[in-house]
Amino acid sequence: MVVGVTASQKNLTQYLSVTGGHSLHGTLKVSGAKNSTLVLMTASLLTNETIELTNVPDLTDIHSMGKILGSLGVVVERSMNRMRLTASDLTNAEPPYELVNSLRASFFSIGSLLGRLGHARMPLPGGCRIGARPVAEHIRGLKALGAVVTVQHGVVAASGTGSNQRLKGAPIILDCPSVGATETILMAAVLAKGTTTIENAAQEPEVQDLANLLNVMGARISGAGRSVISIEGVESLHGCLDYPVIPDRIEAGTFLMAAAVTRSSMRVEPVIPEHINAVLQKLRDCGCLLKISGTSVDITPGDLIATDITTQPFPGFPTDLQAPFMAVMSTAKGTSVISERIYENRLQHVAELQRMGANIRVEGGTAIVEGVPILSAAPVVSSDLRAAAAMILAGLSARGTTQISGLSHLDRGYDNIESKLRGVGADVERDGF
Ligand code: EPZ
Repeated sequence: MVVGVTASQKNLTQYLSVTGGHSLHGTLKVSGAKNSTLVLMTASLLTNETIELTNVPDLTDIHSMGKILGSLGVVVERSMNRMRLTASDLTNAEPPYELVNSLRASFFSIGSLLGRLGHARMPLPGGCRIGARPVAEHIRGLKALGAVVTVQHGVVAASGTGSNQRLKGAPIILDCPSVGATETILMAAVLAKGTTTIENAAQEPEVQDLANLLNVMGARISGAGRSVISIEGVESLHGCLDYPVIPDRIEAGTFLMAAAVTRSSMRVEPVIPEHINAVLQKLRDCGCLLKISGTSVDITPGDLIATDITTQPFPGFPTDLQAPFMAVMSTAKGTSVISERIYENRLQHVAELQRMGANIRVEGGTAIVEGVPILSAAPVVSSDLRAAAAMILAGLSARGTTQISGLSHLDRGYDNIESKLRGVGADVERDGF
């Protein structure tokens, strides 16, 4: 068992041993949102004053982002779940490729760097196992704001024009409601001259959290969380203290599914219900009783009934919970049809679930899941962050002890998940070799 180390210190040759058959009880606590924290950190580049975030989770992705911002000259101070970032003295406008390639979200800082300095160079983020993940929408948005953008030798170089290289507000219509592109454009537009509108903007809560932070820093953004966002450019932004990161809606959904897959009555908190209404509805559809009081959700699963999902941009069912939901449907009564419409290659967890006895067939981007009475433990590998979570859920419900490797993925997005699960009665150990 690993005790007293941060996510980044856990080594890569570890695996989780999950012994199924235990029902869970009590309360699972949700940490701050990974995908909000990462982009809020990049917003620090927009001011020479300090910003302070609270409710920051302990994740390797957050540690990596700290290193990337540090390479630009940002002073990053972390204590417990607080983080202070000060970009008063930027020494560099291009982070090293090997750091950016490990963390796609760092590419979004091209927007804040460009807004602050008038120029930026950012290595193209690699694709990853779940898809090509292009950045064409990001680049299109920056060009619309008057930046000259070139892509050469794997580096995106962007610069404003004119003596002060200041960007100019413009109307932008996204081809797809890309979360990252919306965030990149938001951060580039807040210091531009004039008004910017983003149509077909992503509406995810993390986009809203970024807009809220930027407004606290002095920006003038309206409409975040809806499909049209408008930004009045300002001359400068100031720092802020005590900005709380929103709870992680994907971790919350994962925990609710842990209760469902083990047929356990539990509480999950804090949850902002409107951040996962589509997930709450699907949990009800498959037979779970939910009682919501404030930011607490009490779940009482019944006999699980197969239910179909199709992943969509917010407010639809989130792609990041597709794999965990498939683990739940693997032992539900009947046939569920699970369609992945956001990424072209996010069904790799099917093969691992099949090794545990799940009855699934894949047709294009759709998995047809015939529920079986129980899964059986097997050694499995996790192919991405959310597939890792799905394997844990499968292990919790399986007969025997499942060994899950690929924990580097898991530690990117789940804050000490094994100790949280042990706290509610799960038999989960982290072992090394
Ligand atoms: C964010 O990624 C999240 N990551 C992802 O979470 C999440 O799955 C995704 O949004 C969708 O909700 C962070 O916020 C750090 P997108 P992002 O741009 O911004 C296509 C996790 O597990 N697209 O909305 O990269 C793209 O190919 C991670 O926590 C373009 O076509 O997602 C994909 O099919 C995984 N052109 C779709 O949009 C572009 O220029 C969604 O991508 C950009 C994106």
